[in-house]
Amino acid sequence: MNKRVSLALIVGCMLSGAAAAQTGQELFTANCSGCHGADAHGIEGLAPSLHNPDLWTKLGAHRDNYIAGVVTGGMSGKIESLGKTYQGFAMPPQSFLSSADLVQITHYIIDDVNQLKGGPSEALIDQYKQKPLTHGELHKLRSGG
Ligand code: HEC
Repeated sequence: MNKRVSLALIVGCMLSGAAAAQTGQELFTANCSGCHGADAHGIEGLAPSLHNPDLWTKLGAHRDNYIAGVVTGGMSGKIESLGKTYQGFAMPPQSFLSSADLVQITHYIIDDVNQLKGGPSEALIDQYKQKPLTHGELHKLRSGG
């Protein structure tokens, strides 16, 4: 291999490495917006808006557990969200995504979409990947405890 070709290969790898480091918003668009809509504003009759500051504020100390639990374990059952009922469609677990990507996505939802502070740690997401919360436990968290 001549020097110019190998240099081109190295630069190519660096560029694709840079492209792989996507932002939370880009990861959300690629993995979640098909159901939750552009900018997480929901698709009526399919999946609720994740722009719901009242919900995330009300969740308080359970907020990180709830969002980490949903992305790793999925969600099903009846949900009331912003005056609308969601029922019948189940969200599949997103645990095929790396924990680092799930941290980025969940922080995008909490910090950027809802303008709140925080989001789950990678350690919490890893913990729930090992032992997912049940959908019953998630509903309990969502309704306050
Ligand atoms: C195949 C469709 C689908 C995909 C993909 C999907 N979701 Fe969901 N999601 C749903 C549905 C449907 C619900 C509501 C489930 C129910 O009714 O219990 C939901 C619920 C949620 C909730 C709970 C909302 C609330 O009001 O309590 C969160 C948080 C969430 N999803 C985040 C995500 C994130 C983040 C991603 C991407 C990593 C994602 N979802 C990918 C369909 C999807």
